[in-house]
Amino acid sequence: MCGIVGAIAERNIAPVLLESLKKLEYRGYDSAGLATIENKTIVIKKECGKIDEVDQKVNLKDQKGNIGLAHTRWSTCGSVTKENAHPHQDCTKNIAIVHNGIIENHSELRAQLTHKGHTFTSDTDTEVIAHLIEENNQGNIVQAIAKTLKQLEGSYALGIIEADNPHQLIAARKESPLIIGLGEKENFIASDAPAILKQTNKVIYLDNEEIAVLTIDEVEIFDLDGNKKEKEIETIEWDSEKAGKQAYEHFMLKEIHEQSSTIAKTLEQNIEDNIDLKEVKRIIIVACGTSWHAGLVGEFMIEELAKIPVEVEYASEFRYRDPIIEENTLIVPISQSGETADTLAALKEARTKGAKILSIVNVKGSSIERESDAVLYTKAGPEIGVASTKAFTAQLTVLYLLTLHLGKLKNTLPKDQIANRVRDLRKIPLQIEQAIEETQHIKKLAKLFYKKHHALYLGRGINYPIALEGALKLKEVSYIHAEGYPAAEMKHGPIALIDEQMPVIAIATKDDRTYKKVISNIEEVTARGGVVIAIATKGDEEIAKKVDHVIYIPENSYILTPLLATIPLQLFAYYIATLRNHDPDKPKNLAKSVTVE
Ligand code: M6R
Repeated sequence: MCGIVGAIAERNIAPVLLESLKKLEYRGYDSAGLATIENKTIVIKKECGKIDEVDQKVNLKDQKGNIGLAHTRWSTCGSVTKENAHPHQDCTKNIAIVHNGIIENHSELRAQLTHKGHTFTSDTDTEVIAHLIEENNQGNIVQAIAKTLKQLEGSYALGIIEADNPHQLIAARKESPLIIGLGEKENFIASDAPAILKQTNKVIYLDNEEIAVLTIDEVEIFDLDGNKKEKEIETIEWDSEKAGKQAYEHFMLKEIHEQSSTIAKTLEQNIEDNIDLKEVKRIIIVACGTSWHAGLVGEFMIEELAKIPVEVEYASEFRYRDPIIEENTLIVPISQSGETADTLAALKEARTKGAKILSIVNVKGSSIERESDAVLYTKAGPEIGVASTKAFTAQLTVLYLLTLHLGKLKNTLPKDQIANRVRDLRKIPLQIEQAIEETQHIKKLAKLFYKKHHALYLGRGINYPIALEGALKLKEVSYIHAEGYPAAEMKHGPIALIDEQMPVIAIATKDDRTYKKVISNIEEVTARGGVVIAIATKGDEEIAKKVDHVIYIPENSYILTPLLATIPLQLFAYYIATLRNHDPDKPKNLAKSVTVE
C-alpha cells in the first residue's frame, strides 16, 4: 500500500528515484510524485495515474538535485486527486514528506492544527504529519519529528526532506515496512528491497519507532527519545536482474514460468533445525487471500499425513474474536510479503495468548519474519505481479515439507513412505514445465471465453482450495466475476446459475477418491447446458467425451495435484486479462502488500 523511495547522493537523483519507484509500483499506482531540493528550495511534481503516465505528463526524471523522495500511491485517506498525491508539505514549504500507512487520529490533529492557523491543501492524513512537524520544529528537525511521531496513532513509513538542510534525509517507521540501503557516497530508503537492489544489496531493516538520519557518508539510527542505536547491516541475496521482467511481457507471466525453478529451490530446505514441534497438538494457520488458500491445502496435507488437527483462519477475522489457544497450539502465519497488516496483527494476538509462532514467508527481513519464533522461507524470490503465483506454489511446497516433518515426528509416516513422497515432490519442477507446455491450448481457450461475465470454478478435497484460487486469479486480473465452490455444493444453490453463458472450470484429476464424484458433478452441469473446461490428468481420454474442453496436467500423487492444477488456472487468468486489455501486473484497486486493515 503505497511505495516510497528516497535518496541522498553526489549525483543527480531524480532518474534513480524514478527507476526505483517503478519497482514499487506493485504497491499502488493511482498517483505518483517526486520531490528534490534545488538551491535550498523543494521542487515537487505530482499527478494522478501510473508512474509512466505521470512521468509523461510532468517529466519527473528531469528534476534536479542530489537529495529527493518519490511516492506511488494506493489511496486510503482522501480520493485519487493530484492534491492528494504525495509528497506533501507544511505551510512554509520547508519540508516535503512521503508516507505509507494510516494515521488513525488524523482528524483530531487536523482540527487542532487548523485552529492554530495551519492551512491544508489536501484531504490526506500525510499532510497532517507535515504540519505537525512544522508546529513542533524549534530548530532541530530530528527532535521535531520524534515529538510528532509520539503524537501519531496508526502506522507509518516516512521519508522527509528539509529545504533548510539539504544534506540530510530522514526516515522513520512504525508497522509499515522501510529499509535503508547503504551505497558508496550515497544512501537510500525504500519500502521494499527490489527498489534499491540495482544500487546496493547492503541494507538495514528499520524497526518500529526508529528514526534514521541519512547523509551521503553515513546513516545514524535513533529511538524516539534521541538515543542512538546500533543496527546490523545485512546483505540481500536476491539479484536485481531476477527482479526485472526480462523477455516477458508481464511480471505475472514471468513469475508463472519461474515456478519450476522456485519450487526446486524451495524444496531443498531442511525443516528440522527450525523449531521443536514434537509437542504440537493443534495448528492454527492464519493468512489472507492467496496465502489463505495455501493454508487450506496445508490443512488437508497435515491432517491427512501427520494427523494433527488444523484450523485455517482469515487473519482479519481471527484477530477480532477471542480465539481459544490452548497449550501446545502452534500458529502458522503464511504471507508472501510478510507485511500484511491483518496477518501480523493475528500473529501478535496469538502471541499474547502464549502461542508459539512458526511463519511461512517469502520476504526476508519482513515484519512477520521478525515477530516469529521460527520461519520457513518460500524461496520464490521477488514477486512483483500483484497476483500471487510463484509465491503460492512455493507456499504449498513448504507446507508439504512441514507435513512430512510433522509426520516423521509424530510417527504417522514410516521412513520409506517419506522417501517416496519426497521423490514425488522432486518430480514437480519438471512437471510444472510440462503443464506450461499447454500454453497455446490455454491461449485458444482464453480467446473463446474472454468476453464472458461470470465463471464458476469447482474442485473437491485438496483441489477445492485450488478452485478458490483459480477464481480469485481470474477476478483480480480480468475483472470477470468468478466463484470457487466445492463441486458437490454446487447443487445446493449455484446450479441455478448454470447456462451456456457461465463457463464452469472443473478440477477433475484422476484419483481414487473424488474423481468419480467430480465427474457426476460435471454431468449435472452439462445436463443443464453448461459449458465445462476440465483440468484433467494426462492420459484420461474418457473425460474428453464428457466435457467441452480439457487441459491436461501430468500425473503425480493426489496430495501434490494442487501444485500442478494451479498452473493452467494462472495461465488462463493471465491470457483472459491481456485479451481484455488489462494490465495483469497492476490490477485496479489492488496493491501487492496490504499494510492497512
Ligand atoms: O503478502 P501476503 O501473502 O500476506 O498477501 C495476502 C494477500 O493480500 C494476497 O495473497 C492477495 O490475495 C493476492 N493479490 C492474491 O493474488
